[in-house]
Amino acid sequence: GPTANIRNFSIIAHVDHGKSTLADRILERLGAMGERDKRDQTLDTLELERERGITIKSTPIRLNYRRENGEEYVFNLIDTPGHVDFNYEVSRSLAACEGVLLLVDASQGVEAQTIVNAYLAIDNNLEIIPVVNKIDLPAADPEGAAQELEEVIGIPAEDAVFASGKAGLGIPEILEAIVERIPPPPGDPQAPLKALIFDSFYDAYQGVILFVRVLEGTLTPKQPIMLFGTGKTFEVDKVGTFTPGLVVGDSLPAGTVGWVAAGIKDIHDAQVGDTITQKDRPTPEPFPGFKPAQPVVFSGLYPTSTEEYRKLRDALEKLKLNDAAFTFEPETSEALGFGFRCGFLGLLHAEIVQERLEREFDLDLIATAPAVVYRVTLTNGDVFETQNPAEFPTRDRIDMVEEPYIKLSIMQPEEYVGPVMQLLQERRGSMVTMNYVGKRVELIYEVPFAEILYDFHDRLKSISRGYASMDYEQIGYREGDLRKVDIQVNNEVVDALAVIVHEDKAYSLGRKIVDKMAEVIPRQMFPVPVQATIGGKIIARATVKAYRKDVLAKCYGGDITRKKKLLEKQKKGRARMKQIGTVEVPQEAFLAVLSTD
Ligand code: GTP
Repeated sequence: GPTANIRNFSIIAHVDHGKSTLADRILERLGAMGERDKRDQTLDTLELERERGITIKSTPIRLNYRRENGEEYVFNLIDTPGHVDFNYEVSRSLAACEGVLLLVDASQGVEAQTIVNAYLAIDNNLEIIPVVNKIDLPAADPEGAAQELEEVIGIPAEDAVFASGKAGLGIPEILEAIVERIPPPPGDPQAPLKALIFDSFYDAYQGVILFVRVLEGTLTPKQPIMLFGTGKTFEVDKVGTFTPGLVVGDSLPAGTVGWVAAGIKDIHDAQVGDTITQKDRPTPEPFPGFKPAQPVVFSGLYPTSTEEYRKLRDALEKLKLNDAAFTFEPETSEALGFGFRCGFLGLLHAEIVQERLEREFDLDLIATAPAVVYRVTLTNGDVFETQNPAEFPTRDRIDMVEEPYIKLSIMQPEEYVGPVMQLLQERRGSMVTMNYVGKRVELIYEVPFAEILYDFHDRLKSISRGYASMDYEQIGYREGDLRKVDIQVNNEVVDALAVIVHEDKAYSLGRKIVDKMAEVIPRQMFPVPVQATIGGKIIARATVKAYRKDVLAKCYGGDITRKKKLLEKQKKGRARMKQIGTVEVPQEAFLAVLSTD
């Protein structure tokens, strides 16, 4: 067929197993440009907004491969985000492919993300080419790693290709394996249109640009299209491919990967995972598995100075244009004033957004501790969801509280199983299974999502000396004995500091928060009490001592650079402070609950 020479694939791996290095090496071998050049060219080929702060996402790369016998192939290499927050996007990118290179570091072997990614590929019926990478490392055990893939995932060890992205080993073998093992894309270009959206970005000139895999039919300019998930209709303006910039083309037939611009102004109208069809000749069924992006972690963002409220709102609006998974709405806190409650896919997503707001939009922010979404049944029978601890109802009004759970997979060497199980126990986890993988163990646990939001990953890394790796998925809601802990500073309740916690941990968490706060709140002229309370009852207390000396007194006026540095440090610190009553409270205090004990 017309697609016999097309191969659509992706590279999946655990973090740091060498995905980018190997991809670059493949590009180089096929005469394509690296990521940076590609980005510049992207902006040149199709006229796109060139503005600070709007970075174009990594596009798929179209590559030409010529075999020794002269046969020509088109490879579409589709990038996948490498973090659990974006696993849904990963699964949609994989759905656009027929195969994957599953990379495993020859010195590390199979890790948690290797397994989760492999299963995403298996769920999508993809051909998996196992690649044992970094074989140049002195500690490499390529056969061992291949054996692990067979034991854990059931991929025959003899299928593995041995490679090194860094040393450039095994690249010809990988290219041949792509041609021989990954099937060409199926699909009838005459059938009713069915195209899967696997990524998108917003551009001020073109509107939303959708990255699509055409499964059936053909996408052409002027075509009236409909989105299955939202029911919205548009007319295709331009289509094209990635060669490697966004190049305008005539049509995208079944089997191809490309982009579509259709004057879509709102990224929520055409979301990742949704199916595009022709309005007047629809395909009977959409591609399965569409889930509109839904934030699962919430945090309040407040400007440190009230004058920046508008600027923050404008920045959030701008970010949202490009990120369907990010939400925000105005919120008012007694302590922090006017700000926004923001929703994210996970902690990393939250960090990325906050970092962009501060760097690209030059904002100084106070962020409140992240919280999950709780489902509360009141004694009067009403059920509602809340992700804001400040809004949590009082004990006497609550009949039942449910909280989100995750299925957590952790890989570690055998010797760390004990400490890791203990950590999971502390986090209210219950074991599902335990699998041996050579000398390592995979633990599968069900754990309340809230329990891994605070310092879990750091603790895991430290108790396993960095050897444990984790991944997770959401598995729904379960009842829990949860309490709201309020925090008082100088005898005033600070609403933005409230946290929801399991009854068994309320005391220890309250203790941790007040101790940390007493440590980070700068000394005042008078002692400041910091207290944790449940329903008005004090469960922990600490005191910020009254201050004594001027901080500059230490410098004796001698070392001027040191003095400057100190002042700068103070200035920086000051920018991230919030006045609460008579007390200045720094950002760290709002995240005291996140600190590692
Ligand atoms: P993320 O983008 O963070 O997921 O990482 P990645 O999987 O793309 O890995 P990346 O290519 O950035 O490589 C991670 C580290 O491993 C870097 O320090 C690389 O220099 C190193 N590395 C990558 N490939 C090889 C290899 O074949 N041999 C050796 N010795 N080191 C490698």
